[in-house]
Amino acid sequence: MSVDTAIRLVYLLAAICFILALKGLSGPKTARGGNLVGAAGMAVAIGMTFATPGISRFGLMVAAMAIGVAIGFPAARMVKMTAMPQMVAAFNGVGGGAAALISLAEFARSSPGQLAVYQVVEVLFGVIVGSVSFAGSVVAFAKLQELMSGRPITYPGQQVMNAVIGGAGLGLAIAACVSPHNWLVAVVGVLALLFGIAFVLPIGGADVPVLISLLNSFTGLAVAASGFVLHSVLLVVAGTLVGASGTLLTRMMSSAMGRSLPNILFSAFGSVITAGTAEGAADRSVRSASAEDIAVLLAYSQKVVIVPGYGLAVAQAQHTVRELAELLEQRGVQVDYAIHPVAGRMPGHMNVLLAEANVPYDQLREMDEVNPEFQTTDVALVVGANDVVNPAAKNSPGSPIYGMPILAVDEARNIVFLKRSMRPGFAGIDNELLFDPKTTLLFGDAKDSLTALVAALKQL
Ligand code: TAP
Repeated sequence: MSVDTAIRLVYLLAAICFILALKGLSGPKTARGGNLVGAAGMAVAIGMTFATPGISRFGLMVAAMAIGVAIGFPAARMVKMTAMPQMVAAFNGVGGGAAALISLAEFARSSPGQLAVYQVVEVLFGVIVGSVSFAGSVVAFAKLQELMSGRPITYPGQQVMNAVIGGAGLGLAIAACVSPHNWLVAVVGVLALLFGIAFVLPIGGADVPVLISLLNSFTGLAVAASGFVLHSVLLVVAGTLVGASGTLLTRMMSSAMGRSLPNILFSAFGSVITAGTAEGAADRSVRSASAEDIAVLLAYSQKVVIVPGYGLAVAQAQHTVRELAELLEQRGVQVDYAIHPVAGRMPGHMNVLLAEANVPYDQLREMDEVNPEFQTTDVALVVGANDVVNPAAKNSPGSPIYGMPILAVDEARNIVFLKRSMRPGFAGIDNELLFDPKTTLLFGDAKDSLTALVAALKQL
């Protein structure tokens, strides 16, 4: 077997690992294993790259990897679960930027006139898509990290401005195909950066995580393009996998929010803060109770469905909620967890949190499966969730979340909300369910409230 064939076979093995990793990542039970298989594939690919005959500049490669590890490792170890979306945005942006720079560098390395038009197109594709992804991800990061307003930013003439930037970039890209000069390609890259910023500014609120998933797929496409430029089949495969899975995830997230992707990207969702309903909320009264009262209600129920949301992640109350569920089960109460696909701030957020607390997977019930059961549920215990149970999604055509499938908590016999205040959830809209006569609120940090409930249950 020739060395070349051996190298290709090793890269094929790495590509297979990436595919198996995606398969593993599609379910909570297999996700950890999938992640490890993906990492193993990457290790094989890196090892093969170092071992490839004719590769030089090991020092530079090792130094670049050391810098990446020094930044990436502690960042991944220390990131809080609630800050995951911005970390994904940051890592994703860096990937897009790297793909754009690789394409640019390969172009600059080639002699003038040496590249065929299709090769220049490959370079331009990598530079444009990678730059849009980089700049867009930086703005998305800044929004989520609250370094700037998370709301959609709009100004008069915005669409015209975006069209001018996009049109100029496209025109210069065509010019670069006809007469490929370094400066032309560089200017196209700068315009793509500006376009990335302009594209993301009007997207805000609950739509930013969907946007990040879309930018993730852009990064995949940019990496695939740099794979073509570098004649690396593995990069083409890896980039295509990221592009395809990012696109699928984007579609799944937008349909779980009951919205179309164009609507998310171009409707400046999130600017629609319903000041009217917020004013109304101030004057209305809600029913609150003590932990002891709610413990009695839970203890004498037959069936309790726990609905976790973003607040559970903020309070890091996953272990306490499991403890409460176990105490109830010991008393013969049937306990399930209802998982909404966009509860929290990232796909699978609740599954990851509850898995960390060793909640059995078979107690995690998906929305479609659990919704018919709320009618026979004695208590729906809503722990730090809001938008995903808000009936405005069914009943208020003017609401920004109208059309989003929700957990049918409103059909349960009793509803208990654990939250700190009357503040709304991520979409910024009030929740009529808080004022429902069946609803009781236990105000406070979710972990404190759950700890109090556990203590009260133990006294019964
Ligand atoms: P939210 O609607 O954001 O509500 C979270 C609730 O938790 C708030 O009512 C808040 O009320 C409460 N809370 C916050 N910190 C708390 C704490 N320490 N203890 C107790 N309660 C606390 O969350 P959700 O129902 O999970 O909905 C998710 C939202 O994110 C949806 O709008 C969804 O569209 C959006 N989104 C999600 C994703 C993914 S993939 N998950 C992607 C895009 C968008 P207080 O402040 O009064 O405590």
